[in-house]
Amino acid sequence: MRNLLIAGNWKMNHTAAATETFCRELRARGLEGKRPDILLCPPFTSIGTMVSLLKGSPVHVGGQNLHQQDKGAFTGEISAAMLREAGCSHVLIGHSERRQYFHEDDAGVNAKTRKALENGLTPVICIGETREEREKGVTNAVIKTQLSGALAGFAVGEIRKMLIAYEPVWAIGTGLTATPEQAQEVHRYIRKLLSEIAGAETAQLLRILYGGSAKPDNAAELLSEADIDGLLIGGASLKAEDFFRIIEIADTINK
Ligand code: PGA
Repeated sequence: MRNLLIAGNWKMNHTAAATETFCRELRARGLEGKRPDILLCPPFTSIGTMVSLLKGSPVHVGGQNLHQQDKGAFTGEISAAMLREAGCSHVLIGHSERRQYFHEDDAGVNAKTRKALENGLTPVICIGETREEREKGVTNAVIKTQLSGALAGFAVGEIRKMLIAYEPVWAIGTGLTATPEQAQEVHRYIRKLLSEIAGAETAQLLRILYGGSAKPDNAAELLSEADIDGLLIGGASLKAEDFFRIIEIADTINK
């Protein structure tokens, strides 16, 4: 009932020329008829290339960030309307690298989420604890604060349009994947929180992605967990071969 979603977050990787090579290779591998939903979030400068080269394919294109204002003197920023116009349907919000290096907080994530929804973009809200927080045993408290901050003030109908990504910071780009059991435990907790915030029915509908060193080797076991509804993939989404392999794996999962 919750279709799997395989999403790639390219971060600051791939020029438009490299994007073109990737898109041609991905299409040549044959995406038609694959069951999972597919999303790729390239750098802003590659969005146009990707949108035109993947037109007519099942791949959705998303931004990696947006600004919470409509327009104005915000040098270096990009608006929701600009992403929409460029052909994006989704946008990542509150990725841990944005929180860590660009000081984004839960209030900002909340404001950006509102702006995304106002402009018809599906927000992918990223939450997750650091290694220190996990070692201190405060993972659930951190998740609760981040999720309730992100969702504060939204109506149930708005929450239903969102995607949540659980990305333990200690697992991102480190090769240290959370075990499927560790990930499932937090995903189950997120669904419980969603149920408290928006009701059981909405909690059952919302997709919760896992991110953090997801790759072809561990995709099947992660995706087999009851509350893991997809993957947000950094490193392993940069090569068409690996990303396609994960789509193929997701295509075989029945649950
Ligand atoms: P990773 O990144 O797959 O390279 O660990 C995931 C992410 O940050 O979204």
